[in-house]
Amino acid sequence: MSTADIRRVAVVGTGVIGASWAANFLARGLEVIATDPAPGAEERLRRAVAAHWPALERLGLAPGASPDRLRFVATPEAAVEGAGFVQENGPERLEVKRELFRAMDAAAPAEAVLSSSSSFIPPSEVQAACAHHPERVVLGHPFNPPHLIPLVEVVGGKATSEAAVGRAMAFYAAIGKKPIRLRKEIRGHIANRLQAALWREAVFLLQEGVADVADLDAAIAHGPGLRWALLGPFLNLHLSGGEGGIEHLLSHIGPSIGAMWRELGEAELTPEAQAAIARGTRAELAALDEAEMLRQRDRLLLDLLRAKAEAAALP
Ligand SMILES: NC(=O)c1ccc[n+]([C@@H]2O[C@H](COP(=O)([O-])OP(=O)(O)OC[C@H]3O[C@@H](n4cnc5c(N)ncnc54)[C@H](O)[C@@H]3O)[C@@H](O)[C@H]2O)c1
Repeated sequence: MSTADIRRVAVVGTGVIGASWAANFLARGLEVIATDPAPGAEERLRRAVAAHWPALERLGLAPGASPDRLRFVATPEAAVEGAGFVQENGPERLEVKRELFRAMDAAAPAEAVLSSSSSFIPPSEVQAACAHHPERVVLGHPFNPPHLIPLVEVVGGKATSEAAVGRAMAFYAAIGKKPIRLRKEIRGHIANRLQAALWREAVFLLQEGVADVADLDAAIAHGPGLRWALLGPFLNLHLSGGEGGIEHLLSHIGPSIGAMWRELGEAELTPEAQAAIARGTRAELAALDEAEMLRQRDRLLLDLLRAKAEAAALP
């Protein structure tokens, strides 16, 4: 089934991630029905959508896109009624997610995909609560902020149908995201695991006194981070291999990389480590105008997203 029939999306939970998803769906010309039990949630959501809208305008709105196509309702059951796609963004607590999926499954149209934004809870854990159509439950994990960052990690649970995963992948692609499919569930999915590996080594180097926080940040932001925004670790390595490509690179410096892997550090977020990280980060911030830094970061991110959209030869 194509995703062109999906005109209405339910956003269940409208905190940081849900509000950003809602703005994203609205900017793609979809109708959004949202719900969140927190006092003042509707007003906060409308403010967040308004705050995200100028960036979405700069990236280009779909025909008919409007913040006015947002409706706020009182319950998850009312939100998913008539929805073609459901994006769940409730608190990261298994019992809350289970209850939400039970309720959404009971009320959503049979063909609607139920997708969870969860950073750590695998879809098998929530679909077990669905008595009607567990086969349409998937994970659709975004990167903050979802209205700007294209990556969505998609994976089915034990009872998920191939059709539901395919429909989720097609829907995310159709609204301009970059969905990738995991072939199996794993804690933290892919991108957060890659980030965690890097961050663990950064904390190890800090604790070993190899560098301070500012230099560790600079080592990424002025170094590999620039390439990583364009190509992933494997293609970057291939290009570093010159004419011999990845095979030459692997035989040339592969053994040294392997030796370095064996020396990578272990790090624990002990109270001392946390204090050292916070102290170093505050020291780095003391030399910066944080508000201006944020403005420039957001502007450059939009410029980069637009430039990447035009770079058809990049994967
Ligand atoms: N913050 C991130 O960087 C990030 C990135 C990717 C994915 N996620 C995932 O997104 C989800 C939401 O995270 P967040 O950062 O937006 O958290 P948040 O605390 O900002 O938002 C959670 C929202 O859920 C609402 N809520 C509470 N009970 C609810 C219920 N029964 N039904 C519906 N809504 C309910 C809360 O009122 C709150 O607005 C989590 O599963 C998290 O793992 C977060």
